[in-house]
Amino acid sequence: MHLRPRRLRQDAPMRRLTAQTRLHPAQLVLPMFVTEAPEPRPIGSMPGVQQHSLDSLRRAAVAAAETGIGGLMLFGVPDTRDACGSGADDPDGILNRATAALAAEVGDALVVQTDLCLDEFTDHGHCGVLDDVGRVDNDATLERYVSMALAQAEAGSGLLGLSGMMDGQVAAVRAGLDAAGHTDIPLLAYAAKYASAFYGPFREAVDSALTGDRRTYQLDPANRREGRREAALDVEEGADVVMVKPALSYLDVLADVAAASPVPVWAYQVSGEYAMIEAAAAQGWIERDRAVAESVLSIVRAGAEVVLTYWAEELAETLNRGEGL
Ligand code: PBG
Repeated sequence: MHLRPRRLRQDAPMRRLTAQTRLHPAQLVLPMFVTEAPEPRPIGSMPGVQQHSLDSLRRAAVAAAETGIGGLMLFGVPDTRDACGSGADDPDGILNRATAALAAEVGDALVVQTDLCLDEFTDHGHCGVLDDVGRVDNDATLERYVSMALAQAEAGSGLLGLSGMMDGQVAAVRAGLDAAGHTDIPLLAYAAKYASAFYGPFREAVDSALTGDRRTYQLDPANRREGRREAALDVEEGADVVMVKPALSYLDVLADVAAASPVPVWAYQVSGEYAMIEAAAAQGWIERDRAVAESVLSIVRAGAEVVLTYWAEELAETLNRGEGL
């Protein structure tokens, strides 16, 4: 017997040398939540993650930037909501104020990114505006997204994350931004975003008003080919980056998109993925740190060049200590 793959696994230095996937802090993005409350509040289903106040957000962003992560993705949680989500494109809305504050504070160190979607701002909790019979109106929503994009660009966002899953959203937002002279701001298309139960804790994180579900606009978890199609369409529409979301249950889609995409491919390890590992670890049922590392490594191995993860800062600290994952 001369074929012995175990030769390369025999000790830690050999394994370190021959590892086929490596992680760097720059490829981690930390999602953050900001509210209008004066004090930060914990999120019960996401232990370790906060609903920040503007002040605590600023401090947390500075600390996160010091770890060398590549970016922050901001979500705003407004006090008041209405049918068309007016807080989204109001320059004084919480998300736009926070964006301006962070762009000034840490914009030189990392990319301050913003979620571009209406669900946190609408009183019905959908990602778009509704027509007179209560359906999500695709084309009327696009107009709201363009307005929101302009507000975010003016606030200083470094990259817009289009997470609403309306048809044509990338082309509409690109055209609106370009017409206003914002030709340099990149668009991250949540290209293959599935209607997932794993967003559960996020709904608590943003005090979501949603009743019902998002199955008329987010993808059916059964559909692999459709994930590829959505990513291809977003590239045609001008997406600078495409993303697959959630990550762990969709590694096949991620690998497909990574194999075919001419633009960078990212993945979002969502709230439920975070909550599952934290909850099992809190019970003593799995080894937390190993499970965290393995989950993120597998997402990169499947083809993601950047991962949005609530563990971004912690993982960057581990990497900075010279401990591989
Ligand atoms: C929509 C949005 C959602 C998430 C990110 N952007 C929620 C949804 O589509 O229901 C989920 C992120 C997570 O679960 O961590 N703006």
